[in-house]
Amino acid sequence: MNPSVARFRSGEIVLIEPFTNSGSGKDGHIGVIVGRGDALDAYIVAPILQGGDHQPSDRYAIPVEAADWEEERPDGKQVICVDRMMTIPESNIVTERLGRLRSAKLRDVMRAWSALAARNFSRTFHAANRPGNDPVRASLEEETGDADQAPAARGIPYAGRVFTEDEVEAAVSAALDFWLTLGPEGEAFEKDLAGVLGVRRSILVNSGSSANLLAVSALTSHKVQTGRRISPGDEVITCAAGFPTTVAPIIQCGAVPVMIDADPVTLNARVDQLEEAFVTGKTKAVIMAHTLGNPFDLAVVSDFCRRHDLWLIEDNCDALGSTYDGRLTGTVGDLSTQSFYPPHHITMGEGGAVNIVRDMRLKALVESFRDWGRDCWCASGKDNTCKNRFGWTLGELPEGYDHKYIYSHFGYNMKPLDIQAAIGREQLRRLPAFVEARKSNWERLRRSLADLEEFFEFQLPTHATGWAPTGFAWDGSGHRADASWFGFLLLVRPDAPFTHSEIARHLDARKIGNRMLFGGNLVRQPAFVRFRQEKAGAFRIRHLSAARTSGIKSADIGALLPGADRIMKSALFVGTFPGLSTPQVDSIIDCIRDFALTR
Ligand SMILES: Cc1ncc(COP(=O)(O)O)c(C=O)c1O
Repeated sequence: MNPSVARFRSGEIVLIEPFTNSGSGKDGHIGVIVGRGDALDAYIVAPILQGGDHQPSDRYAIPVEAADWEEERPDGKQVICVDRMMTIPESNIVTERLGRLRSAKLRDVMRAWSALAARNFSRTFHAANRPGNDPVRASLEEETGDADQAPAARGIPYAGRVFTEDEVEAAVSAALDFWLTLGPEGEAFEKDLAGVLGVRRSILVNSGSSANLLAVSALTSHKVQTGRRISPGDEVITCAAGFPTTVAPIIQCGAVPVMIDADPVTLNARVDQLEEAFVTGKTKAVIMAHTLGNPFDLAVVSDFCRRHDLWLIEDNCDALGSTYDGRLTGTVGDLSTQSFYPPHHITMGEGGAVNIVRDMRLKALVESFRDWGRDCWCASGKDNTCKNRFGWTLGELPEGYDHKYIYSHFGYNMKPLDIQAAIGREQLRRLPAFVEARKSNWERLRRSLADLEEFFEFQLPTHATGWAPTGFAWDGSGHRADASWFGFLLLVRPDAPFTHSEIARHLDARKIGNRMLFGGNLVRQPAFVRFRQEKAGAFRIRHLSAARTSGIKSADIGALLPGADRIMKSALFVGTFPGLSTPQVDSIIDCIRDFALTR
């Protein structure tokens, strides 16, 4: 017989020579073949035992019902024991084929077997990625020797993936299905996220930057009413300090960003400058970020947008779980965006989302730009959702042209993989605990560094005027911002005996992750400097005309955007992410204190 041809196939039930196990059935030791061993004459067999020996809650003891067998069935109640898998030489298989499991059950068995391996792998090798307050993290780290070094010696990142075996299992399970493109997991994640936020829809994309680009692109569609559509040369108000891809989509869509300054203490846009940036008939939208998780002044910004009939896009990439007056950020504007890159509140590696807050007409537009610009809105792998697949006559295409290949926009392909969505679903379940951990790490840092105010000014939530161990002091507006902090930000005071790059270098040398506030004053970034010099009308600063902005001297930018400049020169943040354990947070504190107090 050709040894490469298997005598038994996966799913077949066989009788095997006795093995050291007390749970054998009266007819002998039966098992189900799940595959071949590395040696071609060996088989991997999952024992089938009498059900009475096992807890139904044991996910590795899979009960078998009459309907699970293709033919005759062994007597009694059985369970397939995935955690007792054995490799059996062919010579130990004493009876040919007693029956066969149906493929749906075999799938369950093999999926559970993979899950068992994946979960064990994760527990062994990813202990340090578990939540900081995970009760088993320390003992698992001890097992793998990761705990031998003091936290600071191992390095303390400012952010990172926080996950357990649940995420790894979800990824493996989705990989086994090998759907690959956005599919059932993506659909479920979109529903879950929209449910958590309380928005009409969430549309999964491949990054936060893509989400911002799609949000702005959607508003350029010919399907948006003329007066409100963002057309080339129209203006969009945004903030000068922050992450570049909050602003870049405005330029990528042919519109003109109008930069207002940032408040260096809240890190958010100076909303008192909105009116001076506004030009009737030209300004079409506002896009700005809730910086480092701190909600911007949504009361003023949404009132401004309402009065002038402008779109509001909330870049919520750094703020999942933050609230403003008790309402989640990302649920106030017309559209909002998320990033699921590892430092963010939840991760799927790469990934992002556009949230459709109220107006479902925007959903089809965002999806069209995400999916090649197509007019059709069928999900991946589905046909004829519109029930009129060959009945559309659009553009100058012949009658009956397949709707799947009709393009109403110049779009992109910005979809992630279904495997990412499977990971994201597990992460979303952790969101409440993650948010709590971010807040409590921030509070611990703030409390322990409180006596260093002569060196540092600390970030405050919007509307807060001060911090005390008993809580924040608030301005008289009556509004409250509650941040799910992306990081713990401090501004080095101008008269401190050190600069912010000196403390950054010190933290770096001690492997304590730290970051400046992304692009700082974006206007001073090489891409923006060149753009302003090469293209008349590239962007505007506050009330300045495009022509005057193009010719502006570097020194004059400082007078118009002093807050963004201060952020660029003196802001630095360390981690608050939920992967930090209390000793790690304390190491960060000690390092900052030692540095500041010994200068
Ligand atoms: C405020 C803000 N918006 C957008 C992004 C872009 O997200 P992504 O890295 O997923 O493209 C980031 C990235 O960190 C960000 O901080």
